[in-house]
Amino acid sequence: MPWKLVLVFGVGCLSLLTMFMLVREHHKHDITNHLLSTAGNSAFKAAGKTGLRQPEELRSSSSADCSPRINFVWIKVHKSGSSTTTPLFQQYAFFHNLTVMMPADGGPILSWPIPPREGLYVKPRTGVYNALYQHSRYNKTWLEARFPPDTAYLAIIREPFSHFKSCFNYYRVSHVLKTKKNQYIPNPLRTFLENPWSFKTEALHYGVRFDKTRNAQAFDLGYPLEKADDLDWARRYIDQLEHDFLLVMVLEHLEESVVLLRRLMCWELQDVIIKLSTRNVRDYPFKHYRPTPTEMHTYRQYSAVDFMMYQHFNQSLWRKIQAQDNDFFEEVRHYKSVRVKVGEFCKIKRRMDKSAQMTIPSTRWNPSYTFDSNLCRRLGTSDRTYRKKIWNQLGYGEKIKVRPRMVYNVRMHHGSMLKQARENSKERARNK
Ligand SMILES: *[C@@H]1O[C@H](CO)[C@@H](O)[C@H](O)[C@H]1NC(C)=O
Ligand SMILES: *[C@@H]1O[C@H](CO)[C@@H](O)[C@H](O)[C@H]1NC(C)=O
Ligand SMILES: *[C@@H]1O[C@H](CO)[C@@H](O)[C@H](O)[C@H]1NC(C)=O
Repeated sequence: MPWKLVLVFGVGCLSLLTMFMLVREHHKHDITNHLLSTAGNSAFKAAGKTGLRQPEELRSSSSADCSPRINFVWIKVHKSGSSTTTPLFQQYAFFHNLTVMMPADGGPILSWPIPPREGLYVKPRTGVYNALYQHSRYNKTWLEARFPPDTAYLAIIREPFSHFKSCFNYYRVSHVLKTKKNQYIPNPLRTFLENPWSFKTEALHYGVRFDKTRNAQAFDLGYPLEKADDLDWARRYIDQLEHDFLLVMVLEHLEESVVLLRRLMCWELQDVIIKLSTRNVRDYPFKHYRPTPTEMHTYRQYSAVDFMMYQHFNQSLWRKIQAQDNDFFEEVRHYKSVRVKVGEFCKIKRRMDKSAQMTIPSTRWNPSYTFDSNLCRRLGTSDRTYRKKIWNQLGYGEKIKVRPRMVYNVRMHHGSMLKQARENSKERARNK
């Protein structure tokens, strides 16, 4: 009976197909898991050609009893020392072959102050993101929907008044003080601090109001400008951040923060070496201005959430440090000396010398490493170069050209964002 044969053949084919698909699905899963579990080792495969050397000894005791955390979201808080610290995360992602969430245009900003629209960030080929370190604003819901549950949330903040001075200069806030063209203001900072509330420093971008002079660090960590005076709400919000973040580093205690980061992430010393000379060398007229007690008092009231947050996370940093073994400060001293040693080694002249080598002896916290001039090249790698390298390593393909309007550069477009906020306020007043 031929039709019976056809039936048997058909059913056979179908079950074969199903089996094949099941196996494939399983295999796909395996690949993902495999990639995740081997990602930690791949740095050393890549090491030969890139400047990291195979450690001569096994992991030191302090990282032997834990395994490195490879999933992290780094919130690059603006003007808080994040250009000094971000290379640490870039190099980690690159040498450990992590899947990085990147904007589809390959640029430096994922999205700010709202999450990127679908299609404006690259989808990972493995289905799993490991890392984010490009400019973005903390949005718990959005990030938690896209990163694995064991992701470490990390950020850096700094003393709010020095942050304010830096923003005031960088975003050219003094422009809003002038009522007449060519008006000369001897110290714009002091003029501003007479009554910060009286100046129109609010800006509007993608429907979100922000103010670079007021709680700007809390804003990058997701705090809404509209809640600037609600300190009970701030308390609860900061407690939530404390719960969500593995570590908020403090610029004034940078080396302690980095050593703590290394320990909490179970990374290696060589992962956290960053350049000694930071990029914070910009000088401006009022950089060293010390506020009078009255000015400080005014600013503390005006930007109360940032002060509350700073105090909270500084205390939280020191609490976490206290919970470490008592050799913590010894490791900090060692880390500082390694940075100085690397700085010496990488002075221009030595960088040219291909045969020069330096050895970091093994300690309780690290195996011994031998570095050559590739280390200096690695530390000098620019943001743009890292972006290109990682883009290629991940096989992300064509970059999307994004309309200029979509590209955020708050510094460049600050003037028009201030204007937008003013027009929006007028419109709201008219509609009332
Ligand atoms: C990174 O992962 C890709 C697979 O996604 C692999 O082809 C490549 O060899 C890995 N690179 C390194 C340096 O391990
Ligand atoms: C945060 O993300 C959620 C989910 O995508 C979105 O609905 C919300 O508008 C975002 N909030 C802000 C302030 O961008
Ligand atoms: C942070 O807190 C520690 C411990 O309480 C304190 O010693 C230190 O001065 C604080 N740092 C700053 C910059 O306020």
